[in-house]
Amino acid sequence: MRFGPLDLGSNLFLSPLAGYTNLPFRLVVREIGGVDLCTTDLVNARSLLEKNPRAFKLIETNERDRPLAVQLFGSVPEEMRDAAVMLQERGVASIDINMGCPVRKVCQVGGGASMMIEHERTAALVRGMVNALRVPVTAKMRLGWDDRNITAPELARVLEGVGVAAIFVHGRTREQGFTGRVNLAGIAAVASAVRHIPVIGNGDVTTPEAAKHMLEATGCAGVSIGRGAFYDPWIFVRTRHYLDTGELLPEQNFQERVRVLCRHLDLMCEVFGEAHGCRMFRKVAPWYAKRFGPSHEFNKRVVQVASRAQFHQILEDYIRWRQQFLDDSGELKPRFQPPPMLASFMQEPGEGTRHSIPVPKGPVEVW
Ligand SMILES: Cc1cc2nc3c(=O)[nH]c(=O)nc-3n(C[C@H](O)[C@H](O)[C@H](O)COP(=O)(O)O)c2cc1C
Repeated sequence: MRFGPLDLGSNLFLSPLAGYTNLPFRLVVREIGGVDLCTTDLVNARSLLEKNPRAFKLIETNERDRPLAVQLFGSVPEEMRDAAVMLQERGVASIDINMGCPVRKVCQVGGGASMMIEHERTAALVRGMVNALRVPVTAKMRLGWDDRNITAPELARVLEGVGVAAIFVHGRTREQGFTGRVNLAGIAAVASAVRHIPVIGNGDVTTPEAAKHMLEATGCAGVSIGRGAFYDPWIFVRTRHYLDTGELLPEQNFQERVRVLCRHLDLMCEVFGEAHGCRMFRKVAPWYAKRFGPSHEFNKRVVQVASRAQFHQILEDYIRWRQQFLDDSGELKPRFQPPPMLASFMQEPGEGTRHSIPVPKGPVEVW
C-alpha cells in the first residue's frame, strides 16, 4: 500500500474520531498491531497557525506514534497550505483533508462536507496544498451531500487530477448521518472513478469478515475503521490475520480486554495528567465494557471515575460481581454472552437495526 511516496505496512487504517483518536488511543491500537497509518481528530488549520494550545494538544504525538496523518479542516486555501507545511516540518507523514464533516458550523464556512459540492473551489485549495508539500495529501469524504447528490466519484476523480494520493470514503451521505446501511455500491463507484490512487472504504466495519467483504465487494484498496476499534482495538490485528491466512481468530478474552483497558488508562494519565485523563476515560471505558457481558455495575461507577486508584477499585469490585455470570471454567454463561458483531452491510434485509453501532453522545453525534 502506497500513498504517493509513503510506503505503508498495512491497508487497514484508524479513522479519525473527534474526541477519541487521541495519542493514548492511537498508541493502544498500535501496540496491539495490524494498523500502520493512524489519523488524528480533525484540527482547525487556522487554530494551528494561531498556535492555539488546544489545537496543539490534538496533534500531540511521540516516536511510537508513527506513521501519523493529521486531519485538517478549513476553507481558506492559504491557511490550509500553511498549516500543512508546518505539520510537514514537524514530521507528520501525511495530511488528510476533512471533506466529510456534516457539522453546520464547519460546513457554513465552506469546510467539511460542503467541499463536496463546489469541486472547482475544492480542487484549487487542494492543488495549493499538494504543490507546497513533499508529504502526501489525502482526502476524506462521504458519498455526497444526499442521495440526489452522490458527488464522491466525480470529486475523487478531480482530486486525483490535482495530485491527491489517496481517498478515504465513508459509504454514507451527509444527510444519512449514521443511519441506514453503508452503501457498498457507492464506495465501489468511487474506487472505479479514480485511475491509480488507492481508495479506502469506511463505515460500520466491526469484524474481520466485514472488512474482507468491503474490500471484495467494492474493489477498494484498504479499509478504515473507527467505532469498531472502540469495541475491539484488536480488530486490526484480527483482520490482518484473516486477510493473510483466511483464519478467523476468536475475539479477545475478558482478561486481555481488562489488560488493555488498564493500559489505555495509564496512557491517558501519561498524556493528559491523572485528573483530566480519568475524566476523559469516563467515556472510553464503557466502550470496552460493551464486550464484557453484563456491565451496568461497571458503567454506572466508571462514568464518575476521578483517579487511577478509584478506577482499580471499581474494576476489582466489578470482576467480583461479574463472577455470578460465569460457568465453572470462568467463561460467561451462554445467555450472558454479548451477541456477535455484525456490520450493517452484512445484515439480511428486514433484520432491523439491532446491530447498528452506537454513535457516541456529545457535540459530534451528528458526524
Ligand atoms: C464521535 C465521532 C467523531 C468523528 N470525528 C471525525 C473527524 O474528526 N474527522 C472525520 O473525517 N470523520 C470523523 N468521524 C467519522 C469517522 O471517521 C468515520 O468516517 C465514521 O465513524 C464511519 O466509520 P465507522 O463506522 O468505522 O466508525 C467521526 C465519527 C464519530 C462517530
